[in-house]
Amino acid sequence: MKIISVVGARPQFVKLAAVDRALGPRCDHVIVHTGQHYDPAMSGVFFADLQIPEPRFRLEVGSAGHGAQTGRMLEQLEQTFLEAAPDAVLVYGDTNSTLAGVLAAVKLHIPTIHLEAGLRSFDRAMPEEINRLTADHTADLCLAPTVTAMEHLEREGLGSRSRLVGDVMTDVLFAVRDAVAGTAPSLPSALGDSYVVATLHRPSNTDDGERLNAVLDGLAAVDHPVLLLAHPRLRANAKRFGLDVNRGNLVIADPVSYPELVRLVRDSSGVVTDSGGLQKEAFLLGRKTVTVRRQTEWTETVSLGWNALVGEDPSRIGAALNDLPALPTDETPYGDGSAAHRVADQVLACAGGAR
Ligand code: UD1
Repeated sequence: MKIISVVGARPQFVKLAAVDRALGPRCDHVIVHTGQHYDPAMSGVFFADLQIPEPRFRLEVGSAGHGAQTGRMLEQLEQTFLEAAPDAVLVYGDTNSTLAGVLAAVKLHIPTIHLEAGLRSFDRAMPEEINRLTADHTADLCLAPTVTAMEHLEREGLGSRSRLVGDVMTDVLFAVRDAVAGTAPSLPSALGDSYVVATLHRPSNTDDGERLNAVLDGLAAVDHPVLLLAHPRLRANAKRFGLDVNRGNLVIADPVSYPELVRLVRDSSGVVTDSGGLQKEAFLLGRKTVTVRRQTEWTETVSLGWNALVGEDPSRIGAALNDLPALPTDETPYGDGSAAHRVADQVLACAGGAR
């Protein structure tokens, strides 16, 4: 049995690590890397650190506008699927690589599975919301990470082709957390030992100069040193708008590997981000988060008191971080770290059913 996984961007490599470990020994698991992310810090280090096998196909599409980037992937993925003739295609999350993968596969009548299905921000201005809606409504099988995601799928009439499997990012996070226990992150000396970790990359925060300036000001006013792990989009746009990212309490660094991120968050006093995955990783590591967006797909982090949304007013970042109750909880909305084997079972059943 041959299964193709299509990945291209940073968060997909993390999910792939868990899935490959469960699926790899049970089939011919072929990894296709679209090349959406290509900088070593955005791609290569994840394969090395998370022990993901080398992709069998590299499409090297690179950066471009949504239409050009997705179109290039679509064309090349169709050729790749025709050549490799997989029994099923697995797509991950909500990026342009997800969208291209699902479209190319279903049009070739290959059984297609969407992992991390059912997440909704209800904000159609986010490219990710359009990508995940399209993927869910197009795939043959939707694998949901949470009860909330499953409810969204049922409400949209997709219940009969959806399964609740849990969250594979929890699998990876717990494994890496245990592997790095007892090792310290390498902190820039300006940071001191009580610091906040920040990441920003959403178009809604980085593509408009005034907004980006306001968010950087909000971050710089936090009453702890803030380690800002600067995504290439943030750096490129700050330069384009003539904004100096070095201000107030900010300490700027490049993106880090996954194990280093886990160490940094574990030892931090909190997180400020617009990333989806990091909100959840902070929760799982027992760190509070302020999310610089108006909504979140990971609503459980908010309802349990660990996450505050400040999209309306980024000047509230510091106050929101200080005000979070972050009450201890026994709830495990993202599972116990054993989702990947359920994913593998579902994927193989879906692929086998097609024969
Ligand atoms: C993409 C995903 C987003 C995901 C994020 C993780 C879409 C629509 N968005 O956003 O859901 O959370 O990845 O990081 O698919 N760049 C580089 N080097 C790289 C990659 C990107 O310099 O290796 C720069 C380029 O200037 C590029 C920009 O970053 O134009 C944006 O990259 P892109 O992949 O289009 O979107 P992300 O913001 O990374």
